[in-house]
Amino acid sequence: MKKLIAGNWKMNGTLDDARVLIADILNGLHAQPELLKTCDFLVCPPFLHISAIRHAVYNSKDVVFGAQDCAAAENGAHTGEISAAMLRDSGCSHVILGHSERRQHQGETDALIRKKAERAHAAGLIAIICVGETADERAAGNEKKVVEAQIRGSLPAGASAANTVIAYEPVWAIGTGKTAMPADAEVMHGFIRELLSGQVENPENTRILYGGSMKPDSAKALLAAKNVDGGLIGGASLTAREFLAIAQAA
Ligand code: 13P
Repeated sequence: MKKLIAGNWKMNGTLDDARVLIADILNGLHAQPELLKTCDFLVCPPFLHISAIRHAVYNSKDVVFGAQDCAAAENGAHTGEISAAMLRDSGCSHVILGHSERRQHQGETDALIRKKAERAHAAGLIAIICVGETADERAAGNEKKVVEAQIRGSLPAGASAANTVIAYEPVWAIGTGKTAMPADAEVMHGFIRELLSGQVENPENTRILYGGSMKPDSAKALLAAKNVDGGLIGGASLTAREFLAIAQAA
């Protein structure tokens, strides 16, 4: 399967920055079309920058775009929320759900993430469901238990390889410059693959991304690990050079 190279831009940059970044990515892919043979590309800008990205990728099949969250409710009186249907209507193909930053700072639970994933699927979006343990949980040897509970709790009925991507993002690796050792990532990704059978339709073809300080230097070994089907990239997705260098490493 092709690797999915996904950028989570988080809450960074101005509208102009977003326009420059997507133009640089598209130009970079134009210059290195061979990358498109091995990788699919996704960018997830902040909500307010989605329409600019839509405009920039109009007529290009090289990069798809998505959002970083959606509402659990379908529509109605939910001030400040953005629905899955609105994202689809704005051209999004994907939505990141249950990122550890939202689990930590917005108190998102597995049950809430599952509801959001149901909405995403109903709207025709691919849900990227994030899981991962904290440093303390790993130190206590509980990383598999934690990830298993997150997978069981946040995947909705009807999840399939076509509408769901899992992102394994160990919390201790996010934004810290520390990555999982490729061997540890391989163990966890293999474990997640096992968990997916019975939970999703077509588990072998369900993409499992690695996230957490993935950089051009660390990407090669991580992306070569068994069951690592791509990367969900934060910091290094904010420059086209680093983002595309990760794809080269794949
Ligand atoms: P960093 O690549 O900045 O560690 O972020 C990873 C991440 O959280 C992607 O969702």
